[in-house]
Amino acid sequence: MSNRLVSVPHLSVLQTHRSEKWRGFPKDVLPLPVAEMDFPVAEPIRAVLAELVATSDLGYLGAIPELGLGFKKFAQERWHWDLDETQVRPATDVGVAVVEILRVLTNPGDLILINSPVYHNFHNWINEVKLSKVDVPLERTGDENGNPWQINWEGVEKAYASGIKVHLLSSPHNPLGRIYSKEELAKFVELAEKHNVLIISNELHAPLTYKGSTFTPILSLGEKARSVSIVVTAASKGWNIAGLKCAMIVTQDAKLFARLNEMPPAVHWRTSLLGAFATAVAFSEGGEWLDDVVSQLDENRHLIKNLLAAKLPSVRYHLPDNGYLAWLDVEALQLGEDPSKHLLEKGRVALNAGHTFGPQCSQYVRLNFATSPEIVTEAIDRIARSL
Ligand SMILES: Cc1ncc(COP(=O)(O)O)c(C=O)c1O
Repeated sequence: MSNRLVSVPHLSVLQTHRSEKWRGFPKDVLPLPVAEMDFPVAEPIRAVLAELVATSDLGYLGAIPELGLGFKKFAQERWHWDLDETQVRPATDVGVAVVEILRVLTNPGDLILINSPVYHNFHNWINEVKLSKVDVPLERTGDENGNPWQINWEGVEKAYASGIKVHLLSSPHNPLGRIYSKEELAKFVELAEKHNVLIISNELHAPLTYKGSTFTPILSLGEKARSVSIVVTAASKGWNIAGLKCAMIVTQDAKLFARLNEMPPAVHWRTSLLGAFATAVAFSEGGEWLDDVVSQLDENRHLIKNLLAAKLPSVRYHLPDNGYLAWLDVEALQLGEDPSKHLLEKGRVALNAGHTFGPQCSQYVRLNFATSPEIVTEAIDRIARSL
């Protein structure tokens, strides 16, 4: 593995960063909640940003065929998904994309299905458009080495039959790092067709899939899937450029594409020119950097496993198949109602509180390990020392 592109700056340098991760907490706190990475940005992205600044080319975003073409290239190479680039459109970010799609395709009060524990802003987006949430939680199997989280199919089928309008998927799943199998996605598609449900598949984390696991884009599953699904994605997680503000909405069905033309033109205009060109370059030229980063993350996910086994053996952790988020069951440590509070106060390490991902998850915390092995080690040490 090459460390050339992914060496993390020293903590004292990271502490000068101006993003939320590094400004959100006092200096003596190790901040590991916000999903940003500490790796230097990919060279092709730096180059296009530098060029846009150097040529004072900082106006509004106009036509950008590069976006669809860049994503098409990546999707073809990585996932053998042959998409129509003319059906890829920009949006400010994933949150805006989901909310604007919901504004067009639902009415306040409609039912929307989620599967908790899930990325906390799913709850906020649903509230923003005044939909009624139906939650069919993923269920813990106890099988830490195989499949620790399974879909409650009975609950999902009941929800589909009960008149939900939309199923909002996190695929791959944040915070579990779980990848839905082809068969599971096909089953969702069958149900969606039968019950006239739209699937919005949030595939933001997909580029960060580890070797040995296979991510399936829902729209690659064929015509039926294309008629019931919309994908929302971005380069913001995979290439760590969330501050540049660009996501993509992808349809592969003429009818759904036409429906989304009802979105306000501002969905395009509110996207950043810098973000859109950085995104196009990330997908078309950022593959090598991404591979280096995923290799480093692979080391880190195993490092956490080893550190926990040595220092905190009662903490339950399943190696994620995707992404840089460790979902830790800390119930056995008996840290009170909200373990993240104890860890912040006594350990000076900031993690996400489990209950924000689902009310049944109060004894979990989420740890972002997209950083150096030294910082990962320090984080686990701080948890251990806080006890
Ligand atoms: C599943 C998921 N969706 C959306 C987001 C946020 O994306 P954006 O900043 O583009 O709205 C995140 C951020 O971590 C996420 O994990």
